[in-house]
Amino acid sequence: MKKSLKILAVLSCLVLVVTLFAACGGNGGNDTTAPAGSEAAPQDLSAMTLDELKAQLTTASDGKLTVATSPDFAPYEFYALDENGTPQLAGFDMDLAKLIADKLGLELEVIPMDFDGTIAELGAKKVDIGLAGYSPDPDREGMMNFSEIYYTGGQSFVTVNAKAEEITSMEVANKADYQIGAQVGSIQVKLAKENTPDAEIVELAKVTDIIAELLAGKLDGAFIETAVAESYQKNYPELKIVSDVPYDQEGSVVGVNKDNAVLLAAVNLIIKDALADGTIDDFVAQANEKAAGATYEGLLDENGAVTTEAASE
Ligand code: ARG
Repeated sequence: MKKSLKILAVLSCLVLVVTLFAACGGNGGNDTTAPAGSEAAPQDLSAMTLDELKAQLTTASDGKLTVATSPDFAPYEFYALDENGTPQLAGFDMDLAKLIADKLGLELEVIPMDFDGTIAELGAKKVDIGLAGYSPDPDREGMMNFSEIYYTGGQSFVTVNAKAEEITSMEVANKADYQIGAQVGSIQVKLAKENTPDAEIVELAKVTDIIAELLAGKLDGAFIETAVAESYQKNYPELKIVSDVPYDQEGSVVGVNKDNAVLLAAVNLIIKDALADGTIDDFVAQANEKAAGATYEGLLDENGAVTTEAASE
């Protein structure tokens, strides 16, 4: 009796030990045989150097950084006319895209499209990053990862000088007979719905369309990012900034493909350094200067190319 109890005890201990060993061994095995490309814990990535991240980095298209943007948004991204009158992508977001590609040793490919398209492309994982003056809107979290904030602007309600005596505030503009513009897919649509819910809210694909409609008297007001309103105001002094608009998600972030945690960590490192050494300040200053010069505000064709007939100063 005693002996068999002892044997039982020894046996159950053995079973326990074997089970524990198997459990540990099993987990360890899983860790080391994890499929390539599966992400390490985010804390590990944020402790890595850029070189370490580069060694692990993969992108949507080998050797390339594919970037979606919406160049209707000076000084973030827009078309500046070069000395031959040819529209060239410019803006501090484009400089940041170039910096990121250079630091990662990748060729930069920028694909221009409408703003809501940039979010859709990121959500579909067709591009690596979106650089389009994104606000870190929580409703977008399913479509992209947000980088750290690289620029902080503000929100404005605008009209034109011809209407400035009538449209003196957002409150005054909040009437059914007023047409208020906001860009499709942008947080400005939410700001319009919050602040001028009784007005007719007109959603247009491009901020440059909103500016054109304001200048043509077709819109009575619009919600636009402050830096953008101030930039277009330099070329179109008829634009009038009526007031600031409160917004609690202020700041611009890079949108990063949700499958690419390594790229997110790398982009954050690059932003951190570029903020610390004044590189971003320089990009913003240069972009503001360029945006005040000759720019192109025409339409793009369905391939994202500039439509030649509309290209003018
Ligand atoms: N910050 C706003 C948003 O994230 C507007 C961005 C519009 N950007 C552009 N390139 N048009 O919704």
